[in-house]
Amino acid sequence: MTTFLLRGMTADDLPAVLRLEHELFPEDAWSEEMLRGELADQPRTRHYVVAETDGREIVGYAGLSAAGGQADVQTIGVRADRRGAGIGAALLTELLDEAVRRASEAVFLEVRADNDAARRLYERFRFERVGVRKRYYQPSDVDAIVMRRELSIVRRAPVGFSREQS
Ligand SMILES: CC(C)(COP(=O)(O)OP(=O)(O)OC[C@H]1O[C@@H](n2cnc3c(N)ncnc32)[C@H](O)[C@@H]1OP(=O)(O)O)[C@@H](O)C(=O)NCCC(=O)NCCS
Repeated sequence: MTTFLLRGMTADDLPAVLRLEHELFPEDAWSEEMLRGELADQPRTRHYVVAETDGREIVGYAGLSAAGGQADVQTIGVRADRRGAGIGAALLTELLDEAVRRASEAVFLEVRADNDAARRLYERFRFERVGVRKRYYQPSDVDAIVMRRELSIVRRAPVGFSREQS
């Protein structure tokens, strides 16, 4: 079994991430400039992570934008030969944890209507459909489904506090 770890994405990761980006999103891959711009906003409004094997190969990545109480999943992807091993779930968990750390009230994302694998993943993470952008993806002419996951801000008890169970 291969193990993998999640760590913050840096500019040094861009060549590997861009190669993967073109494999995963051949129709609308982000350019190097776009990704550099995203990384330049870290940590202010962005949080990008990569999933790396123990052989230091990048097999997935994801990014969150967070501002003014709202967070958005900017991107998430796992190399085709590594899917189904929980890497997507680990990446999404990290983004949701970061949104909670930043006190976001909800996380939004857009997903292609024909992307069943991604939609299943999001539903498993309690994202709910809140809208649709008709024919958003071109030239394939596919709708974008807008999904939202509300975050409950857990208020922790002060250290040392304990409650008697009755
Ligand atoms: C969506 C995506 C990130 C999920 O990544 P992942 O690492 O496969 O995610 P997980 O392993 O945590 O979960 C995948 C699901 O597929 C199942 N699965 C099992 N074997 C699989 C395989 N060989 N290939 C794909 N999925 C498999 C998993 O059990 C899991 O079950 P579920 O249907 O109940 O959700 C991945 O499919 C991907 O990168 N797709 C292309 C890019 C993309 O569409 N990104 C999202 C844009 S909105």
